[in-house]
Amino acid sequence: MDLIAIDGLAGTGKSTIAKALAERLGLSHLDTGASFRMMAWVALNSNAELDSETEVLKATQNVSISYEAGKCLVNGVDVTKKIRDESVSDAASKIAVHPQLRQKLLLWQQQWVSDHGKSVVEGRDTTSVVFPDALVKVYLEADPHVRASRRNETAAANVIERDARDMSRTSAPIRKVADAVVIDTTRISISEVEDIVAGLWKSAIHSHKE
Ligand code: DC
Repeated sequence: MDLIAIDGLAGTGKSTIAKALAERLGLSHLDTGASFRMMAWVALNSNAELDSETEVLKATQNVSISYEAGKCLVNGVDVTKKIRDESVSDAASKIAVHPQLRQKLLLWQQQWVSDHGKSVVEGRDTTSVVFPDALVKVYLEADPHVRASRRNETAAANVIERDARDMSRTSAPIRKVADAVVIDTTRISISEVEDIVAGLWKSAIHSHKE
């Protein structure tokens, strides 16, 4: 599958790198976290009990979400900025434990890629569950202190809690797959990571065509 899939925890540079790479290589870009955030925004606004899968599914069942060039729409309403609130980050991580919701979003993510063609897709289970056949798989990691320092103070505290939840959930926890290239971004710049991944993509595409 002609895709670059990038996994990693918050503060590893995932989003910045994915966006920059897509621009540089002329690929579409999907932030899968945004799909969880849009559903979390809906659940919060419907006062759904976030721990209840039934309530979350009920609140989100007829909702249409869209992601185009970084712009996020829920039933046609622009929520791009709103879904970046700390309350939504927390809610997204809470609803992400529900398997049926994950399945619904997985289908949405796969459809997005079949509609958009060659893409860079980032998220916390994209290499392992959503796109196991991606041509290039990258797992970004970084020292926890550095990851926290890349966030503001409140976000830094929440990052630790969210990471623990995302790693320990039973449905599609974040994990390093054996064929992912692991890059530690603690001491290297965004553009150096971009160079590495762009190189991987070019040689993978080249050998794919042969
Ligand atoms: O990447 P992010 O911070 O925008 O993601 C928000 C939450 O959504 C994250 O804490 C867990 C969930 N998520 C997920 O479970 N799987 C993904 N592929 C992307 C996000």
